[in-house]
Amino acid sequence: MEAFDSSQAQVEAFDLLPDSQPNDRQLMENLMEYHAEKRNSVIPYLLEKSPEFRELSDVRQQGWETPEGDKYFASLRRNADKSDEKTSTYFHNLMKTIGYEIDRATNAFKIQQVDSTPPAILDICMAPGAFLQIALKKNPGSHALAFSLPVSRGGYRSRLASGSNTKRVYLDVTMLAADMGMDQIPEGHEDAENFLPRQFEEGQLFDLVICDGQVLRQHLRGAYRESRQAKRLVTTQLALGLQHVRPGGTMIPKKGHAKRSSFYMVATDIQSQTPEAIEAIKRWKRIWRAATFDSDEDYGKVILDEDSSIETLLEDFGPELVKLGKAIWKIQADALAQAPFMKKSK
Ligand SMILES: C[S@@+](CC[C@H](N)C(=O)[O-])C[C@H]1O[C@@H](n2cnc3c(N)ncnc32)[C@H](O)[C@@H]1O
Repeated sequence: MEAFDSSQAQVEAFDLLPDSQPNDRQLMENLMEYHAEKRNSVIPYLLEKSPEFRELSDVRQQGWETPEGDKYFASLRRNADKSDEKTSTYFHNLMKTIGYEIDRATNAFKIQQVDSTPPAILDICMAPGAFLQIALKKNPGSHALAFSLPVSRGGYRSRLASGSNTKRVYLDVTMLAADMGMDQIPEGHEDAENFLPRQFEEGQLFDLVICDGQVLRQHLRGAYRESRQAKRLVTTQLALGLQHVRPGGTMIPKKGHAKRSSFYMVATDIQSQTPEAIEAIKRWKRIWRAATFDSDEDYGKVILDEDSSIETLLEDFGPELVKLGKAIWKIQADALAQAPFMKKSK
């Protein structure tokens, strides 16, 4: 597995896609999540083990204390909410730059064919479609299944060229109840009408899975979903992505990491049929179910239960995480230190 941070362009890209605004309910749930996170947090571990992470934390702290920083991010949020042609073109070009940078560094978009079946690509949150465009171009004869949030619900416009060998389906992937293992929706659920029937065929597999969807502020959704949408989106993408990637295939997810920071991961040669992978898929579906159907209290419990293995995770994966993060945290610290609002505050 490789973790990839693509320079300054990437720093701007994730800020173009901020999460929802807090409200009272969200505040309460954030508190609950905060306690869970605090108990199990990886941050003290990283602060202890990685000088690069320590440096990034220091620079971030300075950023948070800077009023110019607030103005800068508010302006990025305003831009992110615009759906005009200029913003859409800018964002598409930005994603193309990031995609090509990832590809140059990892060759992630090139599918290693195992037999003569045409390469298959799944993009779970496609628009504007730059990554998919690169993947289709690098794999002649390939075909794709692409989901994306409808523009009428606040999603981005697709810029994918017409005629690409792609089945496009505009829907909210976090409502794919049947594919997430929920055939029976509890009676009286606020969104009962909006859950969606199965979209994947039994055993349908893809060589490459792109799953870098991120919650959009302008996404129209029920109030009960506000604070849970990020969890619902990430668990849907990971569960369906891993379930439908061919053994030996590649996934490109985006990993949110602390506040206002994220990077792409490239996971290759994925062993998607092992007991561990199957358990991970079940676990993500359990979390999605709790985030979608449970009371605040029960959801809080599930989060605590499912997170309780973080110590074990750090024991197994902590040193590798520090190794993978080293270069990224350095790039992020340098980029943040160079940010216009940091300079102004000096
Ligand atoms: C970072 S952009 C993806 C960029 C894309 N990979 C590219 O290369 O152009 C995030 C996408 O996630 C989509 N998205 C966010 N929430 C979604 C949801 N619930 N269902 C489907 N798509 C969603 C947004 O509409 C947006 O198109």
